[in-house]
Amino acid sequence: MPGRFITFEGIDGAGKSTHIEAVAAHLREGGGPVVSTREPGGTELAEALRHLVLHSPMDALTETLLIFAARRDHVTTVIAPALARGDTVLCDRFTDATFAYQGAGRGFDTGVLTQLETWVQDGLQPDLTLWFDLEPAQALGRAGGARVPDRFEQQDLDFFERVRAGYRARQERHPARFARIDAAQERAQVARQVAAALRARGW
Ligand code: TYD
Repeated sequence: MPGRFITFEGIDGAGKSTHIEAVAAHLREGGGPVVSTREPGGTELAEALRHLVLHSPMDALTETLLIFAARRDHVTTVIAPALARGDTVLCDRFTDATFAYQGAGRGFDTGVLTQLETWVQDGLQPDLTLWFDLEPAQALGRAGGARVPDRFEQQDLDFFERVRAGYRARQERHPARFARIDAAQERAQVARQVAAALRARGW
């Protein structure tokens, strides 16, 4: 694929969203179209599935299958065509989140996740994954606000400890693609780490 595929990961409250816009602006300055999208979501069908996954009670298998169904639609209709055109795609979460949340968090079989990943993505993998890493206790302190928490935001600290460990395991498995960002630092420092990860790749 001629385009670049960059994903943003981390537990809820790690603060990645505020940095996605900055990365998009930086890469647009460098020329070339940038598509900014998210998972679950990014297409009409996938956004409908997102709503169900975030708000309807269901078991871990149903949740996992819906997330991969959403991903299939998103990959085939948005991500792969954009990369084929040579665009840069920024995605707020992708399959590492499934290994972290459904695999490590919910305890879903990672062998099955690997099969689904292969099946749904036809070999597509991010070129770079920015992992915003933060202790769950600190992340929970940052999250919150007025809105009603979704099915993941309602989970306890132990769940997010497992999710964090799941991300760490993914980094260990894919060290070249992962850049760990220490999200405990203040925002400007975090932005500098993000910029350094892009610079290291000549972006
Ligand atoms: P996010 O976009 O970070 O939520 P928000 O807009 O509320 O900040 O992600 C939505 C939730 O979906 C998040 O709690 C993690 C969860 N999720 C999974 O459990 N598995 C996945 O594969 C993905 C992509 C997200």
